[in-house]
Amino acid sequence: MKQRISILADLRIKIGNETFDNPIWVASGTFGYGTEAPDLVDVNRLGAIVTKSITRQPREGNPPPRIVETPSGMINSIGLANIGVERYIREMLPIYENLSTKIIMNIAGTDIQEYVEIMKMVESVSSVIVGYEINISCPNVKKGGMEFGVDCDMTAKLTAKLRNITERLLIMKLSPNVSDIVSIGMSAQESGADAVSAINTVVGMSINANTGESNIHTTYGGLSGPAIKPVGLAMVHKLYQDLSIPIIGIGGIVNREDVVEFMMAGSVAVQIGTANFRNPGISEDILDTLEIFLEETHRAAATELIGAVKTHS
Ligand SMILES: Cc1cc2nc3c(=O)[nH]c(=O)nc-3n(C[C@H](O)[C@H](O)[C@H](O)COP(=O)(O)O)c2cc1C
Repeated sequence: MKQRISILADLRIKIGNETFDNPIWVASGTFGYGTEAPDLVDVNRLGAIVTKSITRQPREGNPPPRIVETPSGMINSIGLANIGVERYIREMLPIYENLSTKIIMNIAGTDIQEYVEIMKMVESVSSVIVGYEINISCPNVKKGGMEFGVDCDMTAKLTAKLRNITERLLIMKLSPNVSDIVSIGMSAQESGADAVSAINTVVGMSINANTGESNIHTTYGGLSGPAIKPVGLAMVHKLYQDLSIPIIGIGGIVNREDVVEFMMAGSVAVQIGTANFRNPGISEDILDTLEIFLEETHRAAATELIGAVKTHS
């Protein structure tokens, strides 16, 4: 009997000088600091872990209610609750030494100085983190975050400042809550970003019809999950057409088909967010099935999917 010889597809992808084992990453705010995954999850199989946003000082975040389920998604208004950069350096960085997956630290701030200070503090200690994702797109804080992500000049200024501080990967995380995401992406590219990630959450609202009350303390929050997947796909595709740096796709990914679609739209890698709350091991499951898909469709490498969408115009 003839034996079927299967050659596993190459899942590796490259951003800047960094090679990642595969394109399946977990998204900021949905996988903690990367150190508290349940025993059943083998985090070392992930292409990368993006940590939740770290700010200069610890933050309690917004008061409850700060999470509500919505059709095919959820709205959150966590408000960047985190332990602050000093504790992060002391407690989390040493743990990363024992992980073989790549860690990308997500940074948030209220002004340029805060981002700069955080990055300088991390750069001054030895650590295995391979890069930074810069949150310029959080819709859930009164000051900062979104102010940068909606303004080309601010994005350019911040990107250039941070580029001067680090040689590690610099990824600017873009907001969908803008009129022209491509011009913001171009500003990041021209100012030295290695990549952009898109998208952060979409501003949303939820009301209890019986009580008339808002279901979120801050009235508006960030919509995530499958409901925003078409928005994410469109934004990635628009960026892909004009930018030359890699794009990391995010938004409502729950299975292998979603990953394939995001890569066909132009993503080099993807991040899985809300789906982790239902199943923290989902990225591993998706990785297994992605490998099978590539083999079945006779693709030698995951990179063959990037930008492969056939549009009608
Ligand atoms: C509960 C929650 C917390 C989040 N916290 C952060 C955060 O701290 N920093 C950040 O850049 N994005 C944060 N995000 C946004 C996600 O990283 C991701 O961009 C967004 O949820 C869209 O992906 P998804 O639809 O797969 O969840 C958060 C999302 C959720 C649902």
